Amino acid sequence: MNPQQAPDYEALLQALHARQQFPDSVIHLWTIAPYTQIALDVEIFERSQVRGFYSLLFLTQALGKQNLGDRLQLTVVSNHLHGVTAEEIVSPEKATVLAAVKVIGQEYPNINCRSIDVMISDAEKLVERLLGESIPSQAEDLVSRISRRRSEALDAKAQRALKVDVSDDVAIAYGKGQRWVQAFESVKLPKTNTSALLRTGGVYLITGGLGNIGLVLAEYLAKSVKAKLILTGRAVFPTKDEWEKWLATHDEDDEISGKIRKVQRLETLGARVMVAAADVADIQQMQAVIAQAESQFGRLNGVIHAAGVLGESSFNTIEKIEKIHCDRQFQSKVYGLLVLEKILQEKQLDFCLLMSSLSSVLGGLGSVAYAAANLFMDAFIHQQKRNNSIPWIGVNWDIWQFKNNKNIFTSASLAEFAIAPEEGMDALQRILSQDEFEQVVVSTGDLQSRIDRSIQVKLREPDIPQQDSLSSAYSRPNLPNCYVAPRDRLEQIIANLWQQLFGIEQVGIHDNFFDLGGESINGMTFINQFQKQLGQIVHISAIFEAPTVNEFAAYLQKKYPEALAKMLKLETVLVGDREEGEL
Ligand SMILES: NC(=O)c1ccc[n+]([C@@H]2O[C@H](COP(=O)([O-])OP(=O)(O)OC[C@H]3O[C@@H](n4cnc5c(N)ncnc54)[C@H](OP(=O)(O)O)[C@@H]3O)[C@@H](O)[C@H]2O)c1
Repeated sequence: MNPQQAPDYEALLQALHARQQFPDSVIHLWTIAPYTQIALDVEIFERSQVRGFYSLLFLTQALGKQNLGDRLQLTVVSNHLHGVTAEEIVSPEKATVLAAVKVIGQEYPNINCRSIDVMISDAEKLVERLLGESIPSQAEDLVSRISRRRSEALDAKAQRALKVDVSDDVAIAYGKGQRWVQAFESVKLPKTNTSALLRTGGVYLITGGLGNIGLVLAEYLAKSVKAKLILTGRAVFPTKDEWEKWLATHDEDDEISGKIRKVQRLETLGARVMVAAADVADIQQMQAVIAQAESQFGRLNGVIHAAGVLGESSFNTIEKIEKIHCDRQFQSKVYGLLVLEKILQEKQLDFCLLMSSLSSVLGGLGSVAYAAANLFMDAFIHQQKRNNSIPWIGVNWDIWQFKNNKNIFTSASLAEFAIAPEEGMDALQRILSQDEFEQVVVSTGDLQSRIDRSIQVKLREPDIPQQDSLSSAYSRPNLPNCYVAPRDRLEQIIANLWQQLFGIEQVGIHDNFFDLGGESINGMTFINQFQKQLGQIVHISAIFEAPTVNEFAAYLQKKYPEALAKMLKLETVLVGDREEGEL
């Protein structure tokens, strides 16, 4: 089969189905590849996605179409994915598979997905030999062939891992006789008056500098060191001599007017600002901007890479995602970063800070491409620390709080826990005052419990707590719409599940799942629970397509009329029995 052809995966699964040989375990070995010394570029990245990230998406889409009822174990085996020892070479282009592993598990409650990275001391030889042989028809065969080459360094634990690793860890690495899992350590970074990495009057480039976070960070640099700032974005921004006219002829809440006022404020705070239109993934445009900036302001001292695409266009469930959606995310965070690496190499910078996201760690419904792009940046930093003079720092930010935040996961209830701009500036100051960590995760809640709930949740099969077990239910939160009671049994079932899920007394039919506090984790719990009652796979995208009780009911009626009728009939019998019993 051709890894690039989605129909091939479907044909394979259909054939297995027809022969009643549908697997309960799939081992994906296409991310094992020999390490090449060639410098990473767009072509190598794209080639790696074909056998890695996209292959997993196609496989999952094909599995989804089979409407699997039974649980399936999907194990993604790789090499050079993690750099757990100093010698291990990291291939950042492979990191995107981790996004697939995390999000497949979240969007497909019946697929247990995990990643196993094997550190092989002589990987090239082993992989070359494996690939040089005729590929065995069954993965089991391949595993046993690997085991025969045990002397060539894949240790016994790794083979066992492929078969019997039943822990609830999602990302595992094997090598040097050890089993490794990723862990995060909580640190409190001290606050100093000035950030060690900043210079008074320093020259700083912020890609995506006219975005929400870019402008906050620009304000911090203006206030703290009266910086000379280069703010870039793809869109053309009015030139300085056009600002007054623009402000006079546009509404108060016009987006560009808001940005103009913010840039004016930066200048009032003592900064000098150059705004330039440049796609960070376009090397010529970026070279031209840097040349212009250096002739205007002098040598560049630091870079903040904040270019990224958020908003609804960045949200795509695996069921519906296409390459074009992934490319949109890769543009700034992968191709843009590769451009930055090239043009900054000779620059002797004090730092180059990458604005990554907590989605690298937590995944999230609909965010497979976004998480993949951010995971690439994280892995890139770990690769670079070994062979590059630029001090790269990655920050995996939690959600920020902006009135116009395009991050669609910022539901009304989550927003109150989001990072306020002043808190973000404070965190940045602390991060730029230390030189110990090259990756810092900023989480507003306890990170480990969030990981446990979002990534490993499925292996523990969480259920929605029963009403009786809820010690107390909260009254209905302040929502933009009025309470309208459920009108039929289906709406009642959905509303009841949400009431139990959120611990709220009353959920009305126009209440929005995300306004009630819905996010990846409880979205998955709800879908999990509902599909058990329905006896059919419900795609997680349903909750995004139909986020209110009445919309969700209508969605179900349209998609699953027969299963629904059966479920409601059974429900009536059960309720009837119960009522009879109580009477
Ligand atoms: N907001 C959050 O809650 C949050 C949380 C975690 C991490 N982050 C990360 O932080 C960064 C900034 O987020 P934000 O909230 O400030 O987003 P934003 O308001 O949408 O700003 C992002 C900016 O990036 C620019 N951009 C996009 N693609 C570009 C490209 N190829 N070349 C140059 N500029 C490009 C956009 O301008 P043009 O459209 O004009 O190019 C936009 O102004 C992003 O990387 C995001 O992933 C954000």
